Amino acid sequence: MDKIYKRLKKKINKQYLKVCNKFGINPIWGYPNILVVEPTNLCNLNCPLCVTGKNMNSKSGMMNFDLFKQSVDIVQNYIEEVFLWLQGEPLLHKNITEMIAYISSKKIKTTISTNGQLINEKMAEQLVLNGLNKIYIAIDGANQETYEKYRVGGSYEKAITAIKLINKFKDQYNVKNPKVYIQFLVTGHNEHQISEMESLAKDLNVTLKKRAIVVTHMPTDKKTANSFLPKDRRNSRYDENMQIRSFEKSGCHYPWEWAVVNWDGAISACGKDPLRTHVIDYITEEYTLLDIWRSEKFNQFRKQLKHNKEQMEVCKTCAPPINAKHHKYVLKK
Ligand SMILES: C[S@@+](CC[C@H](N)C(=O)[O-])C[C@H]1O[C@@H](n2cnc3c(N)ncnc32)[C@H](O)[C@@H]1O
Ligand code: SF4
Repeated sequence: MDKIYKRLKKKINKQYLKVCNKFGINPIWGYPNILVVEPTNLCNLNCPLCVTGKNMNSKSGMMNFDLFKQSVDIVQNYIEEVFLWLQGEPLLHKNITEMIAYISSKKIKTTISTNGQLINEKMAEQLVLNGLNKIYIAIDGANQETYEKYRVGGSYEKAITAIKLINKFKDQYNVKNPKVYIQFLVTGHNEHQISEMESLAKDLNVTLKKRAIVVTHMPTDKKTANSFLPKDRRNSRYDENMQIRSFEKSGCHYPWEWAVVNWDGAISACGKDPLRTHVIDYITEEYTLLDIWRSEKFNQFRKQLKHNKEQMEVCKTCAPPINAKHHKYVLKK
């Protein structure tokens, strides 16, 4: 009964947020539906179209475990899922498997996105045993040469081994989770390998998720941006004039449903703002995530977004997913 009541509460809250967004109800008083937590914005790779990979973070560090717990605790009765990454490589955090176990102990789902380079036997076993629900492992090419065009400093073999190790422990413990996905950023360098990637995923018994690359979220020279854009525009978020394809059509739901906690306790208005141009405020012991979520400043941001999206800097460069509704960013075949 208690379980049904809790689930119902979460569903009602989610619907309330959607109504607020649709009808421009402001201020909102609901709770976030998704919690995004950034364990760290440090990374072991140097991907060329990533703010972290290009060392563009103004400051870097690891999240304090108490801050992590405080962020989860305050919204635990309302969130349906925690996304345990933002910028940076989440598995670099020394407490990452404890974080997963903590979320799982509250019967909340967790997903992680990783470059997979740090998944050895021990890490794979802990990811399987600690209750992770989904893991996206980035493999952007079907061999080392193509893979490292984007995953600079990374090893294709290590990423493949990561998947095999997780599969091994899932079999060993006879569990279904974490569900494993290969996340394939389709670029000009690897678009000819899509069918090879499909076969690879099949051989490894995992799901392939294609994702279109974003090139407008940080200062990048045109040549680099162009070299990563797929020639086949169906795999691109941009048209031939480099205009964002789905900008006009799509609404936005992120600031109504997602609470985004950066490693240092900064609450971003949007999870698609890697340069942190719209930090609402910082969590302290007295000023909680929920206070910030309901603050005048955050509500003002939502209001502006609803009525004046075209004028907002962060939204101008946001390239929403194509062929997808809102945060379902995966491309269809
Ligand atoms: C910044 S990364 C952090 C997580 C982890 N380090 C990783 O790479 O999977 C967050 C997500 O953005 C994806 N990503 C990186 N660069 C991207 C780009 N230019 N466009 C779209 N997605 C990108 C990554 O593959 C990952 O799924
Ligand atoms: S692995 Fe992830 S965080 Fe690291 S540089 Fe690449 S995209 Fe950025």
